[in-house]
Amino acid sequence: MCGITGFTGKEAALPFLLQGLEKLEYRGYDSAGVTLVDAKGLYTVKTKGRLKDLRELLANEHLPQTAGIGHTRWATHGVPSNLNSHPHTNAKNTISIVHNGIIENYASIKEELLRQGYPFVSETDSEVIVHLIDYYDKGDIFEALKKALRYLQGSFALCVVSTANPDTVYVAKKDSPMIVGHSSIGSFCASDIPAVLEYTKDIMTLEDGNLAVLKADGVELYDFAGNPLPQHWTHVPYDLQAAQKGGYDTFMEKEIHEQPHVIQETLRGRIVNDDISLNELDQLAFPWENLERVYFVACGTAYNASMFAQDLFRHHVPKIPSFALAASEFRYGSYYLSPNTLCIFVSQSGETADTLAALNRAKERGAKTLAIVNVLGSGLARKADVTLYTCAGPEIAVASTKAYTTQLVLLTCLVIKMSELLGVARENFKELIDNLKDMPKIVEDMLKEKDQVHEYAKLLADKHDAYFIGRKMDYFSVVEGALKLKEVSYIHADAYLAGELKHGPIALIDKGTVVIALATQADVAAKTISNIEETKARGAVVILITTSKQNTDKFNYVLRVPNISPYLMAIPVAVLLQLFAYYAAVIKGCDVDKPRNLAKSVTVE
Ligand code: AGP
Repeated sequence: MCGITGFTGKEAALPFLLQGLEKLEYRGYDSAGVTLVDAKGLYTVKTKGRLKDLRELLANEHLPQTAGIGHTRWATHGVPSNLNSHPHTNAKNTISIVHNGIIENYASIKEELLRQGYPFVSETDSEVIVHLIDYYDKGDIFEALKKALRYLQGSFALCVVSTANPDTVYVAKKDSPMIVGHSSIGSFCASDIPAVLEYTKDIMTLEDGNLAVLKADGVELYDFAGNPLPQHWTHVPYDLQAAQKGGYDTFMEKEIHEQPHVIQETLRGRIVNDDISLNELDQLAFPWENLERVYFVACGTAYNASMFAQDLFRHHVPKIPSFALAASEFRYGSYYLSPNTLCIFVSQSGETADTLAALNRAKERGAKTLAIVNVLGSGLARKADVTLYTCAGPEIAVASTKAYTTQLVLLTCLVIKMSELLGVARENFKELIDNLKDMPKIVEDMLKEKDQVHEYAKLLADKHDAYFIGRKMDYFSVVEGALKLKEVSYIHADAYLAGELKHGPIALIDKGTVVIALATQADVAAKTISNIEETKARGAVVILITTSKQNTDKFNYVLRVPNISPYLMAIPVAVLLQLFAYYAAVIKGCDVDKPRNLAKSVTVE
């Protein structure tokens, strides 16, 4: 997820480009750059680091050009570096592009362009775009762009400028967000509304397949084939602060609602012909037939995702001992490690001190290490033998939401691939893969339950305690649900195995005690329901999350998840429990994005 800006008009472009990128830094901030264009040519300045570093590079320059594009990066391909920063230009320095998204077929395009003699300077997928446009450029940049768009697969919000038409910015949109704006001084484009609000509130949200041509006096809209399209302009009713949160009240709410998109982005290129594609595993060069043990190691929410993954792996490959461990324990514990051990480290930030220390310990003992992180070039990504990336984009809120569900999705892909490499027949995973393909829609449907969840969260308004219960895979969901509630609402929340209640915890249940119960695991649903009824009999107020198959006549507060594989219930359930924690925190007036005592990345022990 990156931030893009573009402008062409009657005033210098640079001030708009930079202030727009500043408003979009929440979308990515590991490098930044701009290209300005006029009849004399293209002028590109870009750097690894934050926008302030770019501003310093530009500080003493007189740059009156009235057209240009800008980019602030959240790296997905190619670590943060000057060369990997955007914009990317062609060798003749006559075309420059900025891109947000993932070009799925960039490798094959790059291979062909290299064969044609095109020089690549970066490790990014985006660079193929500018050389592909150059390849088709026979004097008409609009025609060249249309031809190039026909070959791009994946997601892109793309801005293009060229010396051939220095007063024009071309914008193409598919699967990544892009808006355009217009005012008396010119035409604007950006990844998100905040970037343009100080210049105009008249915007048009581009749709997939839109190709916009920005000129000083207006915007032309076409489809990718160049056919003119009707334009739908709107006037933005809200202010800048709200806009940076996409119109949501908090980053946490926004990030909960980004989950359908970021799950889609994380799965992009990972399911090919109904099979899981994880080419990174080839780099591991692991003798799978010698695998002795698997550890999933992480902290906090990532640890909860690790417990999910370990159970999924154990179910499919029971003969290989596997463990999910908190990194703070792993780093000091005496765990068997050998060159035939695979340690999988899960982390949103890739900088968590305990997880980094745990990885170092594994490497010292010769174990193979694989990291699943959300931040390219982070500490874990640099140290692990192999890294897989969630594509959740920057997660600003301290409470991890979209990072968690994208971890679950990517860990499911990893466990499926590992199981196949260990001899488990592919047929065993058809339902899981089908469910993964439907997951963006499933999560979208869960978000539609938010009003009902909000009503149920009111049951916590005057409570200091809440108890979460579940069996089997539901247990990992309730552990994560309890963590979410604790960290944003400060309500004391505990998670218990439903079957363990009668061995002590049920003593805590009193009249009015709120119990959030999960019964999504069909083979033990009846047992779980009877555990839940035991709490009701002692006065508990039960919120039940279950499937449409479950009879719920005895329950007043019910939320339903779709009948998918019991192994993937954790994902739709997570969305409901995130919303539950969010609304409970809002009702209690807590600082949802920055809860007391917590940090987004715990880089100290
Ligand atoms: C989760 O909501 C918390 N923010 C916290 O538990 C977090 O998951 C943990 O600190 C691990 O962070 P990481 O994923 O960046 O390693």
